[in-house]
Amino acid sequence: MGDGMDRVLDIGIIGTGARGIGCFGTLIGRRTDARVAALADTNPVRLAVAAGRLSLEVARYTDAGEMLTRERLDAVIVTTPDRFHATDVIAALRAGVSHVLVDKPLATTAQDCLRVAQAARETGGHVAIGFNLRHLPLARKIKEIIQDGLIGDLMLIQNQEFYDGGRTYMARWNRRREWSGGLWIHKGSHDFDIFNWWNSRGTPMRVGAFAGVNALRPDEIPFAVTPDTPVGPYCGVCAYADICPDRVTDTGGGLFDDAAAQADGYRKDLCVFLSDKDTHDNGIALVEYDNNVRASHSECFICNFDDRRYTIVGDRGLLMASVASPDRIELRPRWGQDQIIAVPPAGEGMHGGADPLLLEDFLSSIRGGTPPASTLRDGARAVAVGEAAEISWREHRLVNVGELADLSDPALDV
Ligand SMILES: NC(=O)c1ccc[n+]([C@@H]2O[C@H](COP(=O)([O-])OP(=O)(O)OC[C@H]3O[C@@H](n4cnc5c(N)ncnc54)[C@H](O)[C@@H]3O)[C@@H](O)[C@H]2O)c1
Repeated sequence: MGDGMDRVLDIGIIGTGARGIGCFGTLIGRRTDARVAALADTNPVRLAVAAGRLSLEVARYTDAGEMLTRERLDAVIVTTPDRFHATDVIAALRAGVSHVLVDKPLATTAQDCLRVAQAARETGGHVAIGFNLRHLPLARKIKEIIQDGLIGDLMLIQNQEFYDGGRTYMARWNRRREWSGGLWIHKGSHDFDIFNWWNSRGTPMRVGAFAGVNALRPDEIPFAVTPDTPVGPYCGVCAYADICPDRVTDTGGGLFDDAAAQADGYRKDLCVFLSDKDTHDNGIALVEYDNNVRASHSECFICNFDDRRYTIVGDRGLLMASVASPDRIELRPRWGQDQIIAVPPAGEGMHGGADPLLLEDFLSSIRGGTPPASTLRDGARAVAVGEAAEISWREHRLVNVGELADLSDPALDV
């Protein structure tokens, strides 16, 4: 872009929840080259709390369409629940916004990703995806090691993910497939994207997955429940809140307190055991690429720690790394000496310091007219693999990614 972009960039945020305000709004507030110019959220109480948290006298809209019509924005960040992503991004593009950052996943189906791509192509707009994992120095170093041929040609990529916060998925919208696409898309898209990025010479072709709810279910409540006093329906009123080890207490600094919940009924403390859900609390997915590479990803949402543990095998060696130990990569060549490769630290910030780097990348792409680190094609490929995993475990079959969308569609090249 370059032209006239030396001024302070006006950014609009659609969806003023945890990511919209806790992450992007707060990070933009610390910058001098961009400012939050407008906020949109369907919940007026949450909007007011959001503006207060950012200490901003800012234009507020309960209708994102109105914000897009009235404001002259240089960019929009979409942080609504996943089911609204495609609609919101397309609305922003059609309203003439030239740069949109949509948090992952790009959409909840591969077909919706193509609809976004078509809108981008028709409007000339640019879309970046919130794949913050790509900005972790550890992930970048792994890519460098692969590109430099230190482990030879890739054969296997393995990740075991443990996510302490995952149980809270079952207490909010994420637990419903119609809202999140299912957790293979909602959460797994991060991991399928990083696999696709590391294995940049390959295209994901076939997916097989298994998943289930083993722990966060009514017959697995880890304390005694008397028949006349049921648990739930949400932590705020639950008779067992004091003894429940999975109690959710975080109100997002007021964004999700009772007053906000009264306006739209949206709570983040639904009972993780009783609430209706059609997603999983654990699962394993396998991905086969067209370049003789295979990947596996397992995710577990009921552990007491966060980590992603990688083993990446090539025909000349393997590397092992853990996001919880982000300063080192263990390199084990097939022939020769093992090595520990040091990884530079990330800066401060959420997600191991990756979120400020993600925002920096987005703003630089606007100023420099350069592509962001992750593009529409990346977003669509990750969603397609996640969607294939969803279908695979529900229908008990291997799924060809090509069944879902034509990922060679040139619209994805914008
Ligand atoms: N990149 C990451 O690491 C990461 C981490 C967490 C969440 N996310 C993604 O960020 C997005 C937001 O997640 P979150 O945890 O902040 O959710 P959240 O529930 O905290 O916030 C969502 C907000 O959107 C608002 N909203 C709901 N429907 C809306 C609509 N139609 N129009 C406008 N606003 C609407 C809600 O009132 C709420 O304020 C999701 O897509 C999620 O997948 C990404």
